[in-house]
Amino acid sequence: MKKTVATFREAKNNNEKLTMVTSYDYSMAKLVDGAGIDGILVGDSLGMVTLGYDDTLSVTVDDMVHHTKAVSRGAKNALIVADLPFLSYHVNTEETIRNAGRLIQEGHAHAVKLEGGYDVLDKVEAIVKAQIPVMGHIGLTPQSINAFGGFKVQGKNKKQIQKLIDDARYLEDAGAFAIVLECIPEEVSKIISEKVSIPTIGIGAGKYCDGQILVVNDMLGMYSDFVPKFVKQYRNLKEDIDGAIKNYIKEVKDSSFPEKKHTFKIDPEIINEFK
Ligand code: KIV
Ligand code: NA
Repeated sequence: MKKTVATFREAKNNNEKLTMVTSYDYSMAKLVDGAGIDGILVGDSLGMVTLGYDDTLSVTVDDMVHHTKAVSRGAKNALIVADLPFLSYHVNTEETIRNAGRLIQEGHAHAVKLEGGYDVLDKVEAIVKAQIPVMGHIGLTPQSINAFGGFKVQGKNKKQIQKLIDDARYLEDAGAFAIVLECIPEEVSKIISEKVSIPTIGIGAGKYCDGQILVVNDMLGMYSDFVPKFVKQYRNLKEDIDGAIKNYIKEVKDSSFPEKKHTFKIDPEIINEFK
């Protein structure tokens, strides 16, 4: 069944948990979609996971459009949300709408996500007015890494907790259909999830969120540069891939691959005169 922003709203009303993972290409999108995931985020984490940058700040709108196109071709049922990258929604509302629009019109996403609360409300409102659903994202917002002074858990003191609660409410009022809560204590995300009527999607935010999201390469154990505390590795594909490649190398070297069954036949009459 096709998932929409309405599915997300209904899930919260019905107390059903929402499931999301990231994807950055056609093949992975097809796999996670086929397994029945509710939503796919084309996250700007692709900067780290697929492009090899140290953080997400170098990712461009063109990068996002390129990967969103691939994901949207692979997914048939999941709601596709694409990240607005750093600086694509900071300059003014015109540029913001244009960039969000590209992710929909060229990338074929169904919704966009941007980071921040109070500071980005005018942008959220403008995108929503353009009929593009917006997912908020508060807590540890990786595009603010330089402002935070590193990847740091948010919502540990009273001031930060109050700001997170206020930001979540502002985002709801501005028209966001859901909010990602990243790296905040479980008790704080429980309170936020109770105080807003739109679904909260947690990552490193505990079990009381209305849904969960993980970076797919993290949960499959195939991105090992850095494994955060909140990641559960459901598989260790790194080991599987390493084993498979080593086996392939060995079999090519010792000529046990390819076998007859991997090759194409030709009529001996035809080939004989070339011998
Ligand atoms: O880019 C990303 O993968 C994200 C999720 C971690 C929420 O924003
Ligand atoms: Na992101």
